[in-house]
Amino acid sequence: MTPSESSRQQFPRGFTIIGTGRLGSSLALRLHSKGYHVRSLYNRTLESCVRMASLTGTDIHGTFPARPEDLGDVVFLCLPDDQIGAFVNKMGPVKDGPAWVHTSGATPAEVLLPLSPSGTGIAAMHPVQTFTIKNRDTAFNQCFVTLQGDPELCGKLKKMVEAIGARPLLVDSRQKTAIHLAAVYVCNYMAPLFSASQNLLRNNGMEVRARDIFGPMVRQAMEGLLSHPPAEVLTGPVVRGDTGTIDRHLEVLADSPDLLPLYRMLGKATLELARTLETRDQSNDDEMLKRFSDTE
Ligand SMILES: NC(=O)c1ccc[n+]([C@@H]2O[C@H](COP(=O)([O-])OP(=O)(O)OC[C@H]3O[C@@H](n4cnc5c(N)ncnc54)[C@H](OP(=O)(O)O)[C@@H]3O)[C@@H](O)[C@H]2O)c1
Repeated sequence: MTPSESSRQQFPRGFTIIGTGRLGSSLALRLHSKGYHVRSLYNRTLESCVRMASLTGTDIHGTFPARPEDLGDVVFLCLPDDQIGAFVNKMGPVKDGPAWVHTSGATPAEVLLPLSPSGTGIAAMHPVQTFTIKNRDTAFNQCFVTLQGDPELCGKLKKMVEAIGARPLLVDSRQKTAIHLAAVYVCNYMAPLFSASQNLLRNNGMEVRARDIFGPMVRQAMEGLLSHPPAEVLTGPVVRGDTGTIDRHLEVLADSPDLLPLYRMLGKATLELARTLETRDQSNDDEMLKRFSDTE
């Protein structure tokens, strides 16, 4: 028996998915395509749920699971984070019920305790990936999926995650939050940096889009960051110790004062990283630090 076949045998009643939005529909399609049984699907409004039911050959669907016998061995709650608590309270404990798993990155499994006060059969399963309607077929490929909660359930889910082509990572609740937070640095915080870049161009009379002018350079930098440690791919005035260039930057920033704190804060962080490079000339570092620390 292959590992996938043995994993499928651990869930003879199949899976239920509640919330057939971006993640829920991707998960339903992926489970179905890997031979798992999607037993039932529910969603606040019926349209997406009915569409997914027809794509996954699921007979049971609706807006709320009224009959416990319609639920699979595991129920995935793929709901907006702030809807999980309301659903849990509405559902309440189910006698001899299924395992309950939510998919939120920032929420611990323990939010599901009202469904299983002993803590058995509850977990959080968070795919570290962005799911959209467009990438539904491929988004699970090789993506990390954190698992936190009841160890026995997490063990079974680990095998299922592997069987659908993703990479399980067992974590405790603090580590789960730390992963979510760490993702904010490398993903979410890129957007305000692009926005700052665009504003600088505009403030200096240029209508060209930051994403167009810097696209080739950003792709190159990303390639480097995805294949080397961050310090090794540093370029620019800080790693070179080029205080004259930093002075010219500060002159231009005098007309865009709202962008100055970000420049200084990231300049300091870049300097700290540059200082970890053993062979680099550090003679201008104190001068640079003064420029990044000036508060007037
Ligand atoms: N999308 C991602 O990239 C991603 C990645 C990792 C983890 N997650 C996590 O996955 C969860 C779902 O995110 P999502 O992006 O898939 O959200 P989404 O696209 O907004 O989908 C949420 C779905 O839940 C339904 N819903 C809302 N309240 C409901 C309720 N009380 N009962 C039944 N269905 C309800 C919505 O129905 P309507 O159609 O009626 O609005 C919608 O179909 C979140 O916890 C999120 O943090 C998402």
